[in-house]
Amino acid sequence: MAKILYVNASLGGNDSHSQRLAHEFLAAWQHDFPQDQVITRDLAADSPPLINRAFTSALYKQASDYSREEAEIMNVSDTYVDELLQADYLILAAPVYNYTLPTLLKAYFDLILRIGRTFVSTPEGSQGLLGGRKVLVLSARLGDYSPGTGREHFDYHEPYLRFVFERMGINDVQYIAVSQNPMLHDESTRMAQMNTYRGHMEQVLKGWREARMLSLV
Ligand SMILES: Cc1cc2nc3c(=O)[nH]c(=O)nc-3n(C[C@H](O)[C@H](O)[C@H](O)COP(=O)(O)O)c2cc1C
Repeated sequence: MAKILYVNASLGGNDSHSQRLAHEFLAAWQHDFPQDQVITRDLAADSPPLINRAFTSALYKQASDYSREEAEIMNVSDTYVDELLQADYLILAAPVYNYTLPTLLKAYFDLILRIGRTFVSTPEGSQGLLGGRKVLVLSARLGDYSPGTGREHFDYHEPYLRFVFERMGINDVQYIAVSQNPMLHDESTRMAQMNTYRGHMEQVLKGWREARMLSLV
């Protein structure tokens, strides 16, 4: 049995494109591998705390010395890290807000980028501890910041995500930027665009499915 961690950072509810695609991906995966377990971490439904002084002071203490406030925030951090460590796959519904990550997702990364847990510091530099995992990011936005648009420099989302995953040892990151703009395109054009994104997602699904099948033989 493999484990999939699904992290939602969209505030869009039922209207969210990122979530809709993530749900479609998970449904297809569960159809093929019903024995696999999906763990959902919905940051919109249950917001992560912002890191604070209790968190930064706890980083330098033994758990047995934590104050109540330190224990509370470290408990959340440990829960998130444990979920990641148990997961083989990570699906992220992560829209662009203000050119970068939703605050909820930044708060989540602040809690999972933990020395000794998701990376270690060595004389040769830091090393990630989450190697071997696969990540799919589904990221809706209004704008198109893809190469050739002249707006690549607006994007503080994909480079940040790729970098922090790499710091944790994860290099297999598939990133699908879902540009949907009702002010620029009519509904039929947007539906056609969504089908193109679904095609990209199907390619990722195909690759993961093949790797998963090989792991079963
Ligand atoms: C607070 C806020 C900030 C946003 N900032 C941007 C932005 O910087 N660039 C962009 O292209 N779209 C931006 N958007 C539009 C969203 O990315 C877009 O509505 C997207 O579909 C949201 O993802 P979702 O459909 O998965 O919820 C913003 C939306 C909100 C609510």
